[in-house]
Amino acid sequence: MKNLVIIGSTGSVGTQTLDVVRSFPDDFRVVGLIAGKNFELLEQQVVEFKPKWIYSNCTQKQKLKLYSYGCFEKPIEEIVALPSVDLIVTATSGDIALVPTLIAINNKKNIALANKESIVIAGKELVSKAKQNKVDIFPLDSEPNAIWQCLKGEEKAISKLIITASGGALRDFPLETLSDVTPEQALNHPTWKMGDKITVDSATLMNKAFEVIEAHYLFDIPWEDIEVLIHTESLIHSMVEFVDGSIKAEIGKPDMRMPIQYSLLHPIRKFNPKVSKVNLIDVGKLSFAELDLNRYPCFVLGIEYGKKGGTWPAVLSGADQMAVELFLSGKIKYTEICEIIRNATKSHIAVSNPDVYQALEAANWAKKQVEDLVK
Ligand SMILES: NC(=O)c1ccc[n+]([C@@H]2O[C@H](COP(=O)([O-])OP(=O)(O)OC[C@H]3O[C@@H](n4cnc5c(N)ncnc54)[C@H](OP(=O)(O)O)[C@@H]3O)[C@@H](O)[C@H]2O)c1
Repeated sequence: MKNLVIIGSTGSVGTQTLDVVRSFPDDFRVVGLIAGKNFELLEQQVVEFKPKWIYSNCTQKQKLKLYSYGCFEKPIEEIVALPSVDLIVTATSGDIALVPTLIAINNKKNIALANKESIVIAGKELVSKAKQNKVDIFPLDSEPNAIWQCLKGEEKAISKLIITASGGALRDFPLETLSDVTPEQALNHPTWKMGDKITVDSATLMNKAFEVIEAHYLFDIPWEDIEVLIHTESLIHSMVEFVDGSIKAEIGKPDMRMPIQYSLLHPIRKFNPKVSKVNLIDVGKLSFAELDLNRYPCFVLGIEYGKKGGTWPAVLSGADQMAVELFLSGKIKYTEICEIIRNATKSHIAVSNPDVYQALEAANWAKKQVEDLVK
């Protein structure tokens, strides 16, 4: 029985994590739920999963209602460090889970990591702290989870990682129409149902740049050995090519419950009747294509900032967080996202080996720069 804390329990990954818990009641106990403002859903979760600890941004009146079910509130940083906790699922977007993740690692807790921004902001430091504390960071996001599965048992003779990308909601829009794209159009992802921030990042492919950065740090693979391909069916979640030319792929339906279940149950695999299997005859064909870099300038920028290292990836993450927020609230155009991130952050004076707090400071600096530029 593993004792779980879920940071972001009311979001897309959080609710699907709880659905996995529902499928395996003998394997998991939910001891902590952390959410933002969705009181109705958090209340349902508290009633169903009976966590001892909660943290939320609900109103005082709503909190009193939640306490009436027998749970107590503590700051996130204290919940993740509780002796009874075994595994933390980080399922908030942006930088909310970053410091709690560091504290959890320092308290020798394993992490099931959905929140890729944490690794983008401070990947080097988090991975090094995890090694020092002998804890595991289990990649829960479908692409790094697929790579993790492909690497099992043979982590030495890798020639390259191949990360697949669906191409996002706007992949078939003519280039000249992108400047008029509305938030609703960018949020209409063809294969995955996710939170707003990651869905916009999937349209710009900033999400894919984040995954390359994540793979670089989590699997310690040089930048030049990580390739990205367009694979519109979203059935192959990523691949590893080995030195002899063999390629291993992880294939499954685009259902996040699968990688969530793999990272939570690890090292065991179990049948989950709710997760349907792929029928390869029905699939028939799988397609692959090169990235059109003209369509995805955020991907190019993301890789550039990732490779620069130091506090640059943190700046990228912070600036992107703010730019996406401004796009979703109608303050900037879709096609301005990349340009604004670049222009707002070009004066950054980087720190070469930042700790988590210096990286977070750089991310916050970048958010402010973007906000000020747009004002
Ligand atoms: N969705 C996916 O399929 C998917 C796949 C792979 C990776 N990821 C990554 O997983 C992370 C989460 O994505 P998502 O799509 O699940 O996001 P989401 O649906 O937007 O959910 C975000 C969660 O964070 C909570 N939250 C927001 N502000 C908070 C605060 N100040 N304190 C505590 N909790 C707060 C929200 O609570 P309220 O709703 O209650 O306000 C919600 O539970 C992202 O880093 C994303 O890149 C997502």
